[in-house]
Amino acid sequence: MKAELPDTTLHYSDQGKGLPVLLIHGFPLNQQMWVDQVDFLSKSYRIIMPDLRGHGETPPSPGPYSMELLADDCIALLDAIAINELVVVGGLSMGGYVAFALYRRYPERVAALILAATRASADSADAKVNRDISIAKAKADGTSAVLADMLPKMLSHQIYEKSHQLVKRVEQIMLQTTLDGMVSALQGMRDRQDSTPLLTHIDVPVLVMHGSDDQIIRLVDSQKMYAQLPKASLAVLPDSGHLLNLEQPESFNEAVARFLSGIK
Ligand code: MLT
Repeated sequence: MKAELPDTTLHYSDQGKGLPVLLIHGFPLNQQMWVDQVDFLSKSYRIIMPDLRGHGETPPSPGPYSMELLADDCIALLDAIAINELVVVGGLSMGGYVAFALYRRYPERVAALILAATRASADSADAKVNRDISIAKAKADGTSAVLADMLPKMLSHQIYEKSHQLVKRVEQIMLQTTLDGMVSALQGMRDRQDSTPLLTHIDVPVLVMHGSDDQIIRLVDSQKMYAQLPKASLAVLPDSGHLLNLEQPESFNEAVARFLSGIK
């Protein structure tokens, strides 16, 4: 499906009925990363999954893509499909950065948050330098050069070594990201605002989720968020890395379903 927004055509999926749950993918991924969630969750909920600009089937547009711009796109999508009721907003990694921006701008739209494998803090000086290195590499050698560096870190060491099918699946999803989408998202993440000051003001229920072997975002980042959020629960899934929803889909889905059953 696609929605015509003021300056882009956003591709998305919309499945199921009930409380709307917006699932925002990470970088450099797309809505296909929710493949193991959608059938299960759409039995009880309306699951809306956009492809952010330059990712999946949504074409790139001039960057950078600030987290606020991507959050505005998500709200414009909800408006375009006439969702006026409160929405549960879930984001993994970059999707979590977008979820923070969305809550900062539109708290009145949000019933609850799911923050998976993400962090509230901004990029450190070193992380900003690494973003610039990745941007230069993508421009010089193409997206596959950046993907080759990232892929081994997307999953836990063990799963990366053993689950060749899953590694292939993640790679196929990542390969759909356009060069402009990759560069613009890297710029947006590099320049994103620190959401730490927001944490104590988030007065909706929050489920913080983390894979015990995440190689990209440290467990301590989730623990710090959990400590500051007034209404949070924390689920640390064993034997999983950054893409915990694909590595341990059953325990991920179970934790999300338990959390959603408590949201009105
Ligand atoms: C993601 O998975 O969305 C990214 O790895 C997040 C990041 O690079 O900060």
